[in-house]
Amino acid sequence: MKVTVVGAGAVGASCAEYIAIKNFASEVVIIDIKENFAEGKAMDLMQTASLMGFDTKISGSTNDYSKTAGSDIAVITSGIPRKPGMTREELIGINAGIVKSVTQSVLEHSPNVIFIVVSNPMDTMAYLTHKALGIARNRIIGMGGALDSARFKYRLAEALGCPSSDVNGIVIGGHSDTGMIPLTRLAVRNSIPVTKFISEERLNEVMEATKVGGATLTKMLGTSAWYAPGAAVSSMVQSIACDQKKMFPCSALLEGEYGLNDISIGVPCIIGKDGIEKIVELDLNDAEKAKIQESASAVKKTNGLLEV
Ligand code: LAC
Repeated sequence: MKVTVVGAGAVGASCAEYIAIKNFASEVVIIDIKENFAEGKAMDLMQTASLMGFDTKISGSTNDYSKTAGSDIAVITSGIPRKPGMTREELIGINAGIVKSVTQSVLEHSPNVIFIVVSNPMDTMAYLTHKALGIARNRIIGMGGALDSARFKYRLAEALGCPSSDVNGIVIGGHSDTGMIPLTRLAVRNSIPVTKFISEERLNEVMEATKVGGATLTKMLGTSAWYAPGAAVSSMVQSIACDQKKMFPCSALLEGEYGLNDISIGVPCIIGKDGIEKIVELDLNDAEKAKIQESASAVKKTNGLLEV
C-alpha cells in the first residue's frame, strides 16, 4: 500500500506521521514545491521509526511526481492555509490552481489512485478535482466531516464531562463555519440521546462551538490546525488501505442523493478499498433538510467562482 501526501506543511506532515505510527502502509511519499522541505520532514519522521516502532518507509521529494508512481491513495493538502479572521472560501483564488495542477500530476503517475482532498475551501476543491480529472466519483473524497465530527465529539464530551469515546455524533453539510450541520438530534452517549444529560441550550452551544472549531484554533495558533486534520485523514486512509468500510461524513459528488446534484458536500459515506463505496441517505427532518439545502447553496456559490 503506497500513499502519496502532497504538501509537506503541518497537515501533510501530521497525516504522514499518523499513517506511519499506525503501521499499515508500506510506503508514504511526501511531495512539496519548497526545495528539500519534504525530504527534511520525511527524514525527521524516519528518525522516529525505531522510537515509535513502525516499518513504513517515508520519503520526500521536491516536486518529482515520478516518485509517487503506483500510489494507491493520494492526500492533497497543498495550498495556503487560512490566517486568523479569514474564511476557508477566501483561499479559493490561489488554491484552485494549485489543486488542479497537483491532482493532474498525481493521476499521470498513478492511474488507479484514490484522492482524499483536504485543501480549502475543501468542498469546492473536491468538486474542482472531479471536474478537472473526470474519474469515477468514488475515487475523489473530500475530508471535512471526519474532522468536524471529531470536533463535535470533543465538544460533546466536554459538555457531558465524559471521554470522547463515550459519545457519538456526526456533522454533515459544507466544511465551512456557516455550512456545517452537527446533527444534534442524533448525538448519543452510549446509545442514549445526549439530551438525557445536558439541556437543549447547552447542546446548542456545543453545536455553535463545533461549527467554528477550525476558526477558533486558527485564531489561537495563527494558522490552521493540523493534529486533528492529520488524524482525520489518516483514519480515512486506513479505512481504504485496510478495506475497513468505516462510515465517515465525507464530501462526495452527489447525483441526486439528498435531492442534490453537481455538488460535492459532506454526507455519510462508507469508505473501503474502492474509496466511497456507498453514500448513506439519512432520514432528515424538515429543519435538517432545509439546512443541507442552504449549506449546498453556499457551496454552489463558491463553486461558481471556479474557472473550469
Ligand atoms: C480545519 C481545516 C483543515 O478545519 O479546514 O482545521
